[in-house]
Amino acid sequence: MNSKTVAQLLSQDVTLQDVSIKGWVRTFRANRFIALNDGSTINNIQCVVDFENFDEALLKRVTTGAALHVTGELVESQGKGQSVEIVVKTLEVLGDSDPETYPIQPKKHSFEFLRENAHLRTRTNTFSAVMRLRSSLSFAVHKYFNENGFNYMHTPIITGSDAEGAGEMFKVSNLDAKNPPLNEDGSVNYKEDFFGKETNLTVSGQLEAETYAMSLGKVYTFGPTFRAENSNTTRHLAEFWMIEPEVAFMDLAGNMDLAEDFMKSVLGYVLEHNKEDLEFLDKRLQDAEKKLPQAERSPMNLIEKIKFVVDNNFKRVSYTEAIDILKNSKPNKKKKFNYIITEWGADLQSEHERFLVEKHFKCPVILFDYPADIKAFYMRLNDDGKTVRAMDILFPGIGEMVGGSQREERLEVLKEKMKALDIPEEELWWYLDLRKYGTAVHSGFGLGFERLVMFATGMGNIRDVIPYPRTPQNAEF
Ligand code: 4AD
Ligand code: MG
Repeated sequence: MNSKTVAQLLSQDVTLQDVSIKGWVRTFRANRFIALNDGSTINNIQCVVDFENFDEALLKRVTTGAALHVTGELVESQGKGQSVEIVVKTLEVLGDSDPETYPIQPKKHSFEFLRENAHLRTRTNTFSAVMRLRSSLSFAVHKYFNENGFNYMHTPIITGSDAEGAGEMFKVSNLDAKNPPLNEDGSVNYKEDFFGKETNLTVSGQLEAETYAMSLGKVYTFGPTFRAENSNTTRHLAEFWMIEPEVAFMDLAGNMDLAEDFMKSVLGYVLEHNKEDLEFLDKRLQDAEKKLPQAERSPMNLIEKIKFVVDNNFKRVSYTEAIDILKNSKPNKKKKFNYIITEWGADLQSEHERFLVEKHFKCPVILFDYPADIKAFYMRLNDDGKTVRAMDILFPGIGEMVGGSQREERLEVLKEKMKALDIPEEELWWYLDLRKYGTAVHSGFGLGFERLVMFATGMGNIRDVIPYPRTPQNAEF
């Protein structure tokens, strides 16, 4: 007998054959129609039972959420909504699901409720579609880099250096918090800690990726990164996954080309391979938007938005141009922004980024050549002495999706920058070595994977695109 997934059965023309399927009950209607789902597709397979031939006590156990093993004949469906269905011969309840307590009953649930039941939320259409898309996008990431000659590198998760100089890191220690060993001045003596020094969870694999770019040429990391910032927004997680390519002999223009090509490729991949899930999510969003006043509805639906990104060039704009646009913008003049842009040098807030992509350019925007003062120490200083070869890619509805730069490859310039920022050379001796031995132009970027998943699924909250979100005051599951 054929043991297949629901996806396989539904895509089959060959009917009238004996099949065997296992899955979870979504609904059981009229004591006759079981909608069974096994996670392989957004669609259910309809299993038709002739209740007269089955024990009533057994059918009572066919409740939403129960695990079943069904065998029967695959036939052309009599009803609407599906091409094939199973006429059930045998039915076994593998695992019961008490209808009194099972939280995911077939009705509309709020995303807040489903977050509290994150261990069961992938039994809903929306979350199963989102997580299949997340999986597909991850595969597309590896496929793209593999096909373009990149080596996949695993950068360490525990690190002794603070790459971004941000200071918002989670400490890694196995010292007794109540009674740590102390130095004479009363400070904690980390020499006695596990690694013999202070260590943290990494905020980025970039610095280590640079070392491999300067030998393997083209590399990328794709792993978890951690930030202990107290940002309770719909776009921040304390634990998120970052994709970071790093390429030797590539300048900032090449970096922009790579980022754009990469994003178009992975989004193109899901357009091709995740049609049904995208169509489901698209319809979900359109239904939700129908409740909004016309003016607040988006001009493009989800699939159109993704296609638009795949088919159109990103707009490339220098920071200086962007500041001019913002200074002269309506919300700035009418003091509608929370932070009014008055002069060159200001850090852009998400309200400014969103104005640029959503109101002004209405497409993804690559902002480049930022003031050195608002960017990280490792970015390549331009000849003007005040801007660096940085780039941020901003997306409609998301804001910052990518942050990257050409790296400072000149030893003396880098040392001076570190000195100005009090970054000790001893801590980054190995990073400086790259500039001593065979230094060269090189560049890379970091893409926040969850923000990409948000864009590809149309989900509005980053907590709904990662299985178990870690945010301030929340690490359940
Ligand atoms: O701009 P960021 O901080 O850049 C870096 O970490 C560089 N070292 C990357 C590199 O050049 N290799 O972070 C990169 C991206 C952001 O653009 C954003 O998409 C995402 O990571 N990101 C977050 N995503 C979710 N939650 C957070 N708290 C995030 N912080 C950054
Ligand atoms: Mg950034």
